[in-house]
Amino acid sequence: MKKKLVTSALPYANGALHLGHLAGAYLPADIYVRYLRGRGRDVVWVCGSDEHGAAITIRAKKEGISPRDIIDKYHELNKGTFEKFGISFDYYHRTSEKLHHETAQEFFTKLYEQGDQFEEQTSKQYYDAEFNQFLADRYIKGTCPDCNYTEAYGDQCESCGNTRSPEELINPVSTLSGNKPELKETTHWFFKLDKHQEWLKQWVELGMLDGKKHHSPRTWKNHVTGQCMSWLNDELLPRAITRDLDWGIPVPLEGAEGKVLYVWFDAPIGYISATKQWALDNGKNWEDYWKGDDTELVHFIGKDNIVFHCIIFPAMLKAYGDYALPVNVPANQFLNFEGDKFSKSRGWGIEQHEYLEEFADFPNKEDALRYALTRNMPENKDADFKWDEFVEFHDKELVGNLGNYINRVLVLTHKYFEGKVPASDTNLSEKYAEVLELTNALAADIESFNFKQAASRLMEISSWGNTYLQDVSPWKIYKAEPDSPLIAECMYISLQVVTLLSALTEPFIPFTSKKIRRLLNLSELQNGDLDTILSDLTAGKALIASEHAVAQPELLFAQINDRKDDSRKLIIERQKAKLAALLALKAEEEAAKHDPVKPEITFDDFTKLDIRTGKIIAAEPIKKADKLLKLTVDLGFERRTIVSGIALQFKPEDVIGQEVSVLVNLAPRKMRGVVSEGMILMGEDKKGNLAFVGAPEGFGNGFGVK
Ligand code: 2FM
Ligand code: ZN
Repeated sequence: MKKKLVTSALPYANGALHLGHLAGAYLPADIYVRYLRGRGRDVVWVCGSDEHGAAITIRAKKEGISPRDIIDKYHELNKGTFEKFGISFDYYHRTSEKLHHETAQEFFTKLYEQGDQFEEQTSKQYYDAEFNQFLADRYIKGTCPDCNYTEAYGDQCESCGNTRSPEELINPVSTLSGNKPELKETTHWFFKLDKHQEWLKQWVELGMLDGKKHHSPRTWKNHVTGQCMSWLNDELLPRAITRDLDWGIPVPLEGAEGKVLYVWFDAPIGYISATKQWALDNGKNWEDYWKGDDTELVHFIGKDNIVFHCIIFPAMLKAYGDYALPVNVPANQFLNFEGDKFSKSRGWGIEQHEYLEEFADFPNKEDALRYALTRNMPENKDADFKWDEFVEFHDKELVGNLGNYINRVLVLTHKYFEGKVPASDTNLSEKYAEVLELTNALAADIESFNFKQAASRLMEISSWGNTYLQDVSPWKIYKAEPDSPLIAECMYISLQVVTLLSALTEPFIPFTSKKIRRLLNLSELQNGDLDTILSDLTAGKALIASEHAVAQPELLFAQINDRKDDSRKLIIERQKAKLAALLALKAEEEAAKHDPVKPEITFDDFTKLDIRTGKIIAAEPIKKADKLLKLTVDLGFERRTIVSGIALQFKPEDVIGQEVSVLVNLAPRKMRGVVSEGMILMGEDKKGNLAFVGAPEGFGNGFGVK
């Protein structure tokens, strides 16, 4: 069996992580890796803090602290929070570590020395003269050409999510000084991605690498391949891999003072340095996991990172030589929160550590969340986290199905057999047929990254157990014939299924799995145990032996909608109330943007207005009235002269041909010596921006607007 090298996107150490992050790149990887460990596979899973990049320096500047203060704080917070959720990385490294700096510099140098991987380009880039500094893309803000969001960054618009380059922004300003930046020459190193286009396409599309089959593209998610192919069907261009910035990994070349490696160049190399550190600490050889044919690399990421992991980083690895390329990149899409995007600034969403604080008194809170996120994982399309669904998954599936089942089996074992697994010579293979089928399907789901479906299989197995127990109803048999071997058989089989569940739950809800093991009085699961359990199951062997004494039952989960105890319901209600308050505030703010509605009028009042469609056919300025234009409007039945106060926003030549609506029965009025015979209808927003209100082009002139 090949070794497995699993990575999860290195989160930036400049903020806390929310539930969407957990569901995106960490929880699915944790399920996968825990499963592989259970199957006895030689697997290493690395992650760590991404501690470079302009976003971190901007935040530091804003807060008047150093980047180091920020990364230290969030590295600890994120690492600790992951641990609390049972996210079981083998190593959580930091890109500020010396080992990483050296690894990234060596990587750069090796590619540089090949001579044909990089090229130098001198270009004009935005420069802040007041701060004496070139502006990384992140330091430039302006209006997004796609969605008009006014706070878009030079590298990405956070409103529409599109990637940007600074020169596309309308009205760019430097975030340092607030001034309009100037363009100034600077030199950077570019990675010649174009050189790699051909093989990358073969590799992504056909799974072929160096003339050999590397992986099956059918196993990649459609949205991943789709995004890659849309890049690869277009022309790849050299990409800048250095920046003018004073925070990051210095470019290891003479004459490159003041320049650092671009954060997206060094971050994925962070997977390598993390593996190196793990290997050093554990007496392993990191190269066994990164090089040669005996290893398989899998990257867990969110969809915004696809291009970096499926095109750019593979090209870097191949250019370096000897490295394994990913056999799969099971990127997840995004998780939204109660119908909207997570947004720190708007306070929409909940961060992982906040959840732990606010759910402090909620029993088994870590697994409750892990389970809800898995059942609603954004595997192939965006998903939406809702508290009501969280309650439903919890109460119906974890409490009503799984928890209830395990509890019933243990209670009955104590009732009829003094807490010992009864003896039975039943044919397990026969009885297990359906359970075995479901278990195999669950395993196949995990191996193919369908975690959401795998989690529902878990419930199907538990449902099978509940139904079986109900069908046999040992309590009924007991009344008629307390010594019936059917009771022993039923409890024997049920205890096997509970034992199976103690292992199958481990990847998904590891805290619960541990408790089930304790209740069964079985040792904690070790690497490889799941494999043994699955072979025993397949062979029809017992998973828990007759005579084995189990512990007293204890509840694994506590119902949220509980009539006798509303404490858990209140925790959820509090979350919902917070959101309702935010929505109310937003509605108030929206309302404040608009004028209040005028006093009511009657229908007759309205019909007094005679509004007609028309077209402006001539326009000229009016002397000494810089706000006014003299317009001639064709109304179909006649032409009229109308004076309109739109001159500050519209030039005469721009409005000729414009379709308009005109109030035609307004009493004539003299303005600046010109008699105006009507009024043109205009929309006006809060900032005073004007827009014509007219019928669509070609509608015709002189018709009524009602
Ligand atoms: O998007 C992000 O949050 C990046 N910090 C992910 C980096 S992944 C890897 F390449 F390290
Ligand atoms: Zn945008």
